[in-house]
Amino acid sequence: MISFVWAEDKNHIIGSNGHLPWKLPNDMKRFKDVTTGHPIVMGRKTFESFPNGPLPNRLNIVISRNPDYQVPDSVVLLTDKNQLSQYVKAYEEVMVIGGEGIFKLFADDVDRLYLTKIDYEFTGDTKMVELDYNKFKLTEKKEGVMDDKNIYPYTFETYDRI
Ligand SMILES: NC(=O)c1ccc[n+]([C@@H]2O[C@H](COP(=O)([O-])OP(=O)(O)OC[C@H]3O[C@@H](n4cnc5c(N)ncnc54)[C@H](OP(=O)(O)O)[C@@H]3O)[C@@H](O)[C@H]2O)c1
Repeated sequence: MISFVWAEDKNHIIGSNGHLPWKLPNDMKRFKDVTTGHPIVMGRKTFESFPNGPLPNRLNIVISRNPDYQVPDSVVLLTDKNQLSQYVKAYEEVMVIGGEGIFKLFADDVDRLYLTKIDYEFTGDTKMVELDYNKFKLTEKKEGVMDDKNIYPYTFETYDRI
């Protein structure tokens, strides 16, 4: 099963200048909880946005058109999405974590959506792809807790393909 994991603002913005437009530690924690133990599939730019290299306790899979793109030994490099199945056979749920081009690439395959909706408008240069929510049903919704480190209103939502 393929799942998408992402956070977006009111206007579906997901990125700005190669980074997240916001700081929301509670969403980072949710991301960690949802993805740990599962393979994470990402575009080359998202991989390069990680300050400390590959994320631990998850098979990191990076997609690039450049077959010579250098990744650490623990990381799988794909140049074509059809190469994915051979690396994820042992896993029930594969987490596609963006960015835009990679969500687009898997939009017809995705079964589950883990979405963090941030109720705020940010400036950014990267948007979430359009998804047909008529094809999904909301299976979980949880209001995010706000505090001095999590200053924007947000909601965690999970959708499953009907
Ligand atoms: N809010 C969120 O949840 C979230 C999630 C993820 C990312 N982001 C943000 O989004 C931004 C990065 O996203 P992005 O959309 O700019 O980049 P990206 O999707 O992470 O990476 C784009 C790269 O992926 C490779 N690629 C894309 N489509 C491909 C295909 N069909 N076949 C082979 N390779 C392909 C290419 O790499 P090469 O150029 O090497 O060929 C392309 O340049 C950052 O700001 C990041 O912080 C936000």
